[in-house]
Amino acid sequence: METKKRKIGIIGVGNVGTAAATAILHNNIADELLLIDCDEKRAEGEAMDYLDSIEFNTSRTYVKTANLEEAASCDILLVSVADPSTIPSSSRLELLQESATIIQDVVPNLRKLGFAGIYVVATNPCDIITYLTWTLSGLPRNQVVGTGTALDSARFRRLISQEIKNINPETIQGYTLGEHGDSQFGVWSHVTIGGQPLDVFEKETGIKLDRHAIVEKTRRLGWDIHIRKGCTQFGIGNVLAYFAKSILEDAKSVTPASCILDGEYGFDDLSIGVPAVIGRCGVERILSLQLTDKENSEFVASSQVIKNYISELKV
Ligand code: 2OP
Repeated sequence: METKKRKIGIIGVGNVGTAAATAILHNNIADELLLIDCDEKRAEGEAMDYLDSIEFNTSRTYVKTANLEEAASCDILLVSVADPSTIPSSSRLELLQESATIIQDVVPNLRKLGFAGIYVVATNPCDIITYLTWTLSGLPRNQVVGTGTALDSARFRRLISQEIKNINPETIQGYTLGEHGDSQFGVWSHVTIGGQPLDVFEKETGIKLDRHAIVEKTRRLGWDIHIRKGCTQFGIGNVLAYFAKSILEDAKSVTPASCILDGEYGFDDLSIGVPAVIGRCGVERILSLQLTDKENSEFVASSQVIKNYISELKV
C-alpha cells in the first residue's frame, strides 16, 4: 500500500522561503516541496537550481513550482511573503501593509480551493499576519500557527549561554514570549540551567546575568542581522523547517509559537507567542506557565501592541 506523500508548499520564495526550502531538503522532511511565488521565473529558477544538485543531495525530495490550486493539496503551507529586504523599514511592524495586502489576496483563494492543511506563518509582523491568515482561512485556530518567539527564544538561550560560558547552550531551557518584536519579554522565572532554576544557579555560582541586557539584545538581534545583510533567513528558515517536521512527524515538540488564543493567559482574539505543543494537528495544546507579576504585566503590554495593530487591519 503506497504511503501518503509528505507535501509542503512554500508561499514566497524570497530569502526566508529559500532558506526554509534548503533546511527542508537537507533534512529530508518532505517527499514533495512546492514553490509558489507571484514571481514565477524566480520560483522556477529556485527549483531548477535545486534539481541540478539532486545527485549530491541525500534527500530525494521532488521540488517543483506550483500554482495556488496545487498548493491547496499540501499538508502544510509555509508563509513567507513580502521580502523585507525590498521594503525600507526600521521595525517588523512597518511591514504590515505590504504583508497584509498579499495575505488578503492569497489566503481567501486557498480557502476557495479547499486548503485544509496547516499554515505556518513567518511573514512579519508575524503575530498580526498569523491572526489575519487565521481570520481569512476558515480553518480552526489549531491549524494556523506563527513562528512567533521560537527564534527569539533560541537567541535568548544562546545569549544566556554566552554569559555563563562553561555550560552547553543546549542544557539551557528558557523562553521569550509575547510579540515577535520589541515588546517580547524574557520568562526568567522559568529559565533553568541543566534543570536547575536560574536563581539557584546564580546563588551557587555567584554568576549574576545582566537580564535586562540579554532581553534587549534578543529583541534587537533580528534587526542587527538585517542591517548587516539586508535580511535574516537561515535562523527563521530552520525554524519553519522545524515546525514542518514537528507537524509531519507528529513530534509533539514544545516550542514558543504565535498561537490564536481563546482565553489562555486571559487573552482572546489575537495571536501571540506562547509555549505550545506542535504535532500532526498543528497547535495541539497551549502550555500555561505560572508567570510572576512583572512577567504578567509585560505579557499584557505585549498583547496590547499586537491588538493595536490588529485593529488597524481592514479585514
Ligand atoms: C527574525 O527575527 C525574520 O523576524 C525574523 O529573524
